[in-house]
Amino acid sequence: MTTFKNFLSEKGVQEDLASVLLTMAESFKSINAQIRTAEVGKAGSSNAYGEEQLALDVLSDRLIQDECKKNSVIGLLASEELPEEMKIGDGSFGVAYDPLDGSSLVDVNLAVGTIVGIYDLGEGGSFIGKKGDEQLASMAAVYGPRTTFLVATRDGEGVYEFTLKDGDFVLTNDSVKVEEGKMFAPGNLRAVNESPKYFELVKYWMDEQYTLRYSGGMVPDVTQILLKGKGIFSYPPYSKYPQGKLRLLFECAPLGMLMEKAGGAASDGSVRILEKSLEALEQRTPIFVGSKDEVRRCEEYLA
Ligand code: F6P
Repeated sequence: MTTFKNFLSEKGVQEDLASVLLTMAESFKSINAQIRTAEVGKAGSSNAYGEEQLALDVLSDRLIQDECKKNSVIGLLASEELPEEMKIGDGSFGVAYDPLDGSSLVDVNLAVGTIVGIYDLGEGGSFIGKKGDEQLASMAAVYGPRTTFLVATRDGEGVYEFTLKDGDFVLTNDSVKVEEGKMFAPGNLRAVNESPKYFELVKYWMDEQYTLRYSGGMVPDVTQILLKGKGIFSYPPYSKYPQGKLRLLFECAPLGMLMEKAGGAASDGSVRILEKSLEALEQRTPIFVGSKDEVRRCEEYLA
């Protein structure tokens, strides 16, 4: 069995980047432990003993911060839970993350995940102005019946899956590849009322008898496409979210990188997700991510 640590050294991943990846894998272990044991509470609410309970997304954010602060090569964090970038040291690496995506699914016991994009920001750098193409690595952890993560590095080939077994992440899939196939995860169906083009696209998928696989959590919904090796996830804009709901830095860029590294594609409907430069931390984007032909079809229907 190949542990994540051994994998990184076998692949010759640069030492500092490898240490950041290992830091994030450690965070996934702590978040996993919390999800399995913590009471499901809301930030600011009290438990039966009058103690303040933290919502799991806030707690997960703190766990990642604590883990990152132990690694001196990490200088800057950006989290979906924080209003601003957080400087934690002088290291040049920046980690952008969504600590617990789909956290509202925890209380109904559906899968949730953590999404990570890693950058070299240089001294005094910022995530603002960066493109997804500049990520050195991305990761997506899923806390489901099993605890797994997918990882890809910019300079390495392929996407790999690791699974938590007896306290260690071990390699369980070294050929994560996305080809073509009829599976769809159509997000934000409310948009069909406003967009006849999206309606036609969804109708195409139904007419062609695509298999519906949608959980409402972007991480499991996109990772299933990576692991089944086919399909499309969509989240178009509509009047409530004119730029879409999902965040470029924390969700779309890292998952877009994993999809491209596996042979798929990610687009906002006309532009490659990884080419979009970040204007604000909270920037949202529409997204169509999955098999190449499917993403092309979305662009054609929505043009
Ligand atoms: O961004 C959080 C998130 O829960 C994603 O994981 C998911 O794809 C999306 O929101 C679903 O949003 P909604 O249910 O509002 O369409």
